[in-house]
Amino acid sequence: MKIFIDSADIDEIKDAYSSGVIDGVTTNPSLIKKAAEKQNAGKDLGDYIKRILDVAKSTPVSLEVTEYRYKDMVKQGKALFKKFNPSAKNVFIKIPVNPSFPDDETRDDEGIKAIKDLSKAGIPVNCTLIFTPEQALLAAKAGARFVSPFAGRVDDYIRKQNSIKFEKSDYYPACGMCRKKGMLHDNGIVSGVDLIAKTVEIFQEYGMKAEVLAASLRNVRQVRECALAGADIATLPFDVIKQLLVHHKSREGMEKFTKDVIPEYVKLTK
Ligand code: G3P
Repeated sequence: MKIFIDSADIDEIKDAYSSGVIDGVTTNPSLIKKAAEKQNAGKDLGDYIKRILDVAKSTPVSLEVTEYRYKDMVKQGKALFKKFNPSAKNVFIKIPVNPSFPDDETRDDEGIKAIKDLSKAGIPVNCTLIFTPEQALLAAKAGARFVSPFAGRVDDYIRKQNSIKFEKSDYYPACGMCRKKGMLHDNGIVSGVDLIAKTVEIFQEYGMKAEVLAASLRNVRQVRECALAGADIATLPFDVIKQLLVHHKSREGMEKFTKDVIPEYVKLTK
């Protein structure tokens, strides 16, 4: 499974890439806002984005459109690609699968049309804000190279609907939770990992070319479960990437081995 960093913070991206095991970057308007505020990058945002593309050279970097009408998304996607792809040839354009708002449901199919147009034009698309395997299937049929189901937000949604209190990084079981009335679910999806697993299963069944990119992941155990579910890619916040390596017994063992070192052994390589 490939590991992407879900961040627009250049320091985090550089730090993560220095490990040599990061395969790409995903951004979204909220992450760009956060990074622009922290890094004071608003004024020279174009240059700032080019620095990110350069750090991530040879690996995909997703830049999201902010328009939400079909033609406008295509126009903006093409403009973003033209402006930024030449620097490191690694830009993917992120398109929401359904750009409607909760109180204005007039644009349900416009994301799919935009994906189709951009893909036809040879621009690689990462389809975002996916909450059902059906949305993922249509995005893949339209030509998206990556489909991004939002696992963590599914868990949030199920918990909120059922008045379960939680912190953002709290683990939610991949197999779901049972209550008096039965299994909690969102139209048959029992957890974020279940959304990933069902999407992977359908894609395998029909030989879809798009890669399943597990997004909105909040903790290490969820990353493992997405890997077991067959996700092609997991995009992780910087702190979750850091946590992937942590185990108390590793640290404890390290301390003991270091204490036991005999000088004769060290001298062998001096
Ligand atoms: O990759 C999508 C991601 O940035 C959303 O994460 O934690 O805001 O649901 P989150």
